[in-house]
Amino acid sequence: MNPANIEPWLNQIHCDDCLSAMGRMPSASVNLVVTSPPYNLLNSSGNGMKNGNGGKWSRATLMLQRGYAEHGDSMPHDDYVEWQRECLREMLRVLTPDGAIFYNHKWRVQRGLLQDRADIMDGFPVRQIIIWQRSGGFNHNPGYFLPTYEVIYLVANPEFRLAPKAGGIGDVWQIRQDRGNPHPASFPVELARRAIAATTAEVVLDPFIGSGTTAIASLMEGRQYVGIDLSDEYCRLARERIADAADELAQPDAEPTPETPSALEVREMLQRTRAEQRSMRR
Ligand SMILES: C[S@@+](CC[C@H](N)C(=O)[O-])C[C@H]1O[C@@H](n2cnc3c(N)ncnc32)[C@H](O)[C@@H]1O
Repeated sequence: MNPANIEPWLNQIHCDDCLSAMGRMPSASVNLVVTSPPYNLLNSSGNGMKNGNGGKWSRATLMLQRGYAEHGDSMPHDDYVEWQRECLREMLRVLTPDGAIFYNHKWRVQRGLLQDRADIMDGFPVRQIIIWQRSGGFNHNPGYFLPTYEVIYLVANPEFRLAPKAGGIGDVWQIRQDRGNPHPASFPVELARRAIAATTAEVVLDPFIGSGTTAIASLMEGRQYVGIDLSDEYCRLARERIADAADELAQPDAEPTPETPSALEVREMLQRTRAEQRSMRR
């Protein structure tokens, strides 16, 4: 499914700029990308509806007051959009013809108007937008409803197909946000795991891997990974978390890691989703 010359990249965290690292990776060499880029939150002009806290998201600003360890997260908007488009083009180059990208991002209100991410996604083969329903923040604003979701753009090459029956889990994923992770903007292992389990991908790339979440999810699903992050500090953190997860998975009573999602696993996911839907209806 993937060419042999990706071998030297596999199951490692590469501490590098993602464009530079992906630029050295062979074309059509990974089957899946699961990633969440920096959201450029600190260039916010505020939502223009001040409620005593500047109208910016409280958790984001608290967690990311100084940006990431080695990325300020405050590029001029047009530069940011062009950078992300370049990253997406490179992800598509390294993706196999049956591959797909799960690209997690967040919409926000700027000067009273919704800023979605259509400018980044314009022209890319977006097949679906998955809603990641997480809990809301504390930043109630009189101008609009409390945001409680992020989006995951499914950008798919023409031959991409889900694993058998995986489509049944639906396009709204109710998953609690990550807790207790020293990284300021990690997504939960369950989110990456759900994306990976829904495919038959063998090699999963995350070019913004932060604390290593996508690698951990890949290991849990019995897949191989390629992780890239700019920050030495987060690369160290990722390697530690991955080693801990690998130790846990090696325990005799650890859950099995199937080659591809088993029918049982897909059934369990469907049951979980139905239970979530039932509890939401109550
Ligand atoms: C939203 S975080 C990803 C968090 C990750 N999903 C996790 O669960 O820990 C974005 C990451 O992109 C990294 N980053 C920023 N600029 C980068 C670049 N040019 N190349 C690679 N990584 C970069 C940051 O260091 C940060 O860890």
